[in-house]
Amino acid sequence: MADRVIIDTDTATDDTLGILLAVLSDRVDVEALTIGAGNVAFDRQVENAKYTLQLADIAEKIPVYEGARTPLVKEHDHATEIHGEGGLGPALVPETDVPSAEGFAPEYIVEAAREYPGEITLVCLAPLTNVALALEREPQLGDLLADVVVMGGNVHTPGNVTPAAEFNFWVDPDAAKIVLDELDVTLVDWGLTLRDGTLDTAAEDQIVDAAADSRFAAFYETIFQPDSEGVEEDSRWEGTAQPDALATAVAVAPELIAERGTYAVDVDEREGLTRGVTVTDTNGITDRDPRTDVIEAVDTDGFRQLLVETLVSGDADRSIE
Ligand code: BDR
Ligand code: CA
Repeated sequence: MADRVIIDTDTATDDTLGILLAVLSDRVDVEALTIGAGNVAFDRQVENAKYTLQLADIAEKIPVYEGARTPLVKEHDHATEIHGEGGLGPALVPETDVPSAEGFAPEYIVEAAREYPGEITLVCLAPLTNVALALEREPQLGDLLADVVVMGGNVHTPGNVTPAAEFNFWVDPDAAKIVLDELDVTLVDWGLTLRDGTLDTAAEDQIVDAAADSRFAAFYETIFQPDSEGVEEDSRWEGTAQPDALATAVAVAPELIAERGTYAVDVDEREGLTRGVTVTDTNGITDRDPRTDVIEAVDTDGFRQLLVETLVSGDADRSIE
């Protein structure tokens, strides 16, 4: 039986590839998408998520639940400078007419976990607000879930939104702290993304070359189109970081995991220079329980093949069978 998955996402560029990886694989059944505050304007994220499902011809089967529109405590700040104003680049601003599912995403997460105890893996590609709100409603959530895979944080690596912090943890550090305190998390951080979760020029060439024959490859070309101004035609594709596809790959194809370690991981929720910083006790110095499974290495070639094959053929299982 395929594993049940719920994807919590602030759907913009890289999130869409995580969603495609999961919905185009027979290894997992995506029960729903839940949307939380993050990359771009909330309603854009909802539309981007629905459009991604439509692209895979699956929008009628997978409900999209709207969740928290702001972080738990902090003022919200988007990442439009990374993902574009609407989140899918300037050329694509979808209006799908697909209705959202009835209900608040954190409540849906709790209901689904209770309905299928031990069966659901939460794949978290956004700031962790929805998951923290689900925990508030059901403190035993951890016992009800099979796994919680989180893209977030920067383990012994500089941040990508401030020198200290990675975007998802920085946006809602209060939620990240709660989730890492309360749940056994499988963590895919920004450092792992830079080491093992990028598409290089060769991989991008394969995708772009397939754009005429594959709507998924064409979608990639549209949303990751680099700014071509002043750039030579043949040197335009210079690689992309794919944090959310990497986290989803860890859930869908765990055999790609090459190294992992279990540590106590904490997040600084205070405002200031270190807001959102990931503090990882790799030397076991604190008396906090080590409970976060930090993924330290992934088979880079295998990940690239998985993502390229998904986008070129529309079959996420072809490279991993
Ligand atoms: C994370 O932040 C977002 O901008 C991306 O979608 C990803 O989830 C990377 O730091
Ligand atoms: Ca994301």
